[in-house]
Amino acid sequence: MQFASLLVTLFASTYIVFAAPAKTSHCDLSHVSLNFPTSPTGTPLATAIAPAPKFLGVGVGTQNYTCSAAGTYTSAGAYAEIFDVSCLPTKDSYASITRLAFDVWKIAPKSWTPAEVVKTLSELHSPVVLGQHYFISNVAGTALSPKWDFTSASEAGHTDAFVVGAKTGDIPAPINPAENIDWLSLSGTSGDLANQIFRLETNGGQPPSSCTPGSPEIFIRYSSLYAFYGGSF
Ligand SMILES: *[C@@H]1O[C@H](CO)[C@@H](O)[C@H](O)[C@H]1NC(C)=O
Repeated sequence: MQFASLLVTLFASTYIVFAAPAKTSHCDLSHVSLNFPTSPTGTPLATAIAPAPKFLGVGVGTQNYTCSAAGTYTSAGAYAEIFDVSCLPTKDSYASITRLAFDVWKIAPKSWTPAEVVKTLSELHSPVVLGQHYFISNVAGTALSPKWDFTSASEAGHTDAFVVGAKTGDIPAPINPAENIDWLSLSGTSGDLANQIFRLETNGGQPPSSCTPGSPEIFIRYSSLYAFYGGSF
């Protein structure tokens, strides 16, 4: 199918599912209780530190990998644009919108950025960009830490509207883990945006199982739901 006509099909189906919410961003999430899965061996991902998240967003972006001397891909950070899904009506719709965003992103022309994909989605039901997800070097400059930063978007003017995370839980994606990246829990190590972050409902992002040493960095498209708990916003 042509990209344009597929978009129209996707949009038409989204519009039925997510028709005309009264509000399109910053809806009250206090009634939202998310379920977290357990790993195949029964390890729970984590327990949320609060009954409900403060922010709920879908990230559209890439997981980056470099090829090691051993011929396997290792994580080299990520970049994603995160849009608000707090106004969607049900838990099922969080998974569907995350999937929908991936379906568009997966077939979007190579030159497209995550922001352009989100903007396309927004023409239909106005999601608001919450912020960006990217990686920063730690103090020693040796490793990368994930950061979620709303200071240039929904929380512009609040210089502490970011969180840097450290991983506390990691389980394979419940569906198709060879293609979809792990579901994670992280705790906030700096910033006031959140004290706990979850990466859920992942689509894509996994690298090929092997590579030729010396080959260039790769960028694998993915989407996921991000839930932010605690923080001071
Ligand atoms: C990951 O790739 C994106 C392109 O999708 C780029 O903008 C970003 O800077 C990369 N991040 C890292 C840590 O290399």
